[in-house]
Amino acid sequence: MVMAPTACVSTAEVCTFRKDYTNSLDHLGLVSSHGGDNNLLQSSLTAKELVLDVLRKRAAEVDLDQCGPGEEDPFYVADMGEVYRQHMRWKMNLGRVKPFYAVKCNPDPEVLRLMAQLGNGFDCASKSEIDMALQTGIDPSRIIYAQPCKTKSYLRYAAEVGVKQMTFDNADELYKIKATFPEAELYLRILTDDSTSLCRLSMKFGASMDQARPLLELAYKLDLKVVGVSFHVGSGAEDPRAFLEAVQDARTVFDHAEEIGHELHTLDVGGGFCQDTFEKFAGILGEAVDTYFPPNIRVIAEPGRYYVATAYTLAANVIARRDIPHPDDPSRDAFMLYLNDGVYGNFSNIIFDHQHPVAQILTCASDGSQPASPNSATSEDITYSIWGPTCDGIDVISESIALPGLLDTGDWLYFEEMGAYTKCSATRFNGFSDNHEVIYISSEPGASALLNY
Ligand SMILES: Cc1ncc(COP(=O)(O)O)c(C=O)c1O
Repeated sequence: MVMAPTACVSTAEVCTFRKDYTNSLDHLGLVSSHGGDNNLLQSSLTAKELVLDVLRKRAAEVDLDQCGPGEEDPFYVADMGEVYRQHMRWKMNLGRVKPFYAVKCNPDPEVLRLMAQLGNGFDCASKSEIDMALQTGIDPSRIIYAQPCKTKSYLRYAAEVGVKQMTFDNADELYKIKATFPEAELYLRILTDDSTSLCRLSMKFGASMDQARPLLELAYKLDLKVVGVSFHVGSGAEDPRAFLEAVQDARTVFDHAEEIGHELHTLDVGGGFCQDTFEKFAGILGEAVDTYFPPNIRVIAEPGRYYVATAYTLAANVIARRDIPHPDDPSRDAFMLYLNDGVYGNFSNIIFDHQHPVAQILTCASDGSQPASPNSATSEDITYSIWGPTCDGIDVISESIALPGLLDTGDWLYFEEMGAYTKCSATRFNGFSDNHEVIYISSEPGASALLNY
């Protein structure tokens, strides 16, 4: 990747630096002070203008009547400044808890590079995630292999590259670890109540409180080293009490482990943090951790979505339009719009992550204006359904949305909050690409300095 020393915008996927997108942050009035939450909010609001500006400039480069196949493909603008702000917010609210970023959520090398620079660790679940984390140059002790049911050859690989910390939740895994990597440092993953989360995990992973003690005894008998307890309250968790209960359960497991003879030193509180509820969750979690665990116990977490969801904005092109009668009032028009991205692509978060991305108009050739957002909707809003490019009927992004403009083939839409569980779970179904351009920008001088933008 080519970087310009003083610029704040770059693009890795196409391996070129896009000077034309460079904006002066001063010109946009961006502030980087971290004196309090209000400043962070202010930064993120102003940063949106920068993102929008870059989106428009990139879209304007495409000549839809002349371009080659795929030149009008969807693209992302990724604001590393937003990732940085989330980190500052974490530090302000959960200072005791060291983040091990969950690579699965968005393994973009630029995100991993920033995480490494920020001093974070990594939660990896496969050989290739371990490789991506190590490629940032970090020490293997900054990785936790947080997959309780590991592939044996990956376990051998973890031993080879010195990734010692790993989770387990069953006896078979203990025997596998004993045979393959007996020096591993183990975290017993316990069950949580994840009933209020978007993506439940506990039906697949986690030892119940009844199973925990016999597992700790078996580990001791096998001369394996249990160093901690981990849990995950579910991705997109809604009830912060799940954290309180999990911390209380972890305390019980720590006590059992100590009675048996293990010397535990780390509590891993997993992921499940969201943008909107972070302060509330952090308050309850922070208090629970301080109540149940003395300061000599290290506390780590595995946040994914929290760091990246809001940092990525996706633009997609309208490739076709179909005029249909309005579903509620046949005397009016409504339209089906077909985009060049859908649920088999970057909108995989609709299927796998239960998200509802909201379309906003980036360009609308018919009126020459660029409406700010659907929030500015008027009585003249037009009703659309929005579809992906594949032949499958499941490929729908939005069944009904009112937008303030008459959109047609060639116009561009954009979608905010597309950084978590999107690109990483895209497929190539129907021959469409799963590898789209990402334009990296930084709306925070702190992030620009760390990344040399
Ligand atoms: C073990 C583990 N840790 C961390 C995460 C990241 O969760 P989130 O993105 O909700 O923070 C996941 C997500 O599935 C996970 O399975």
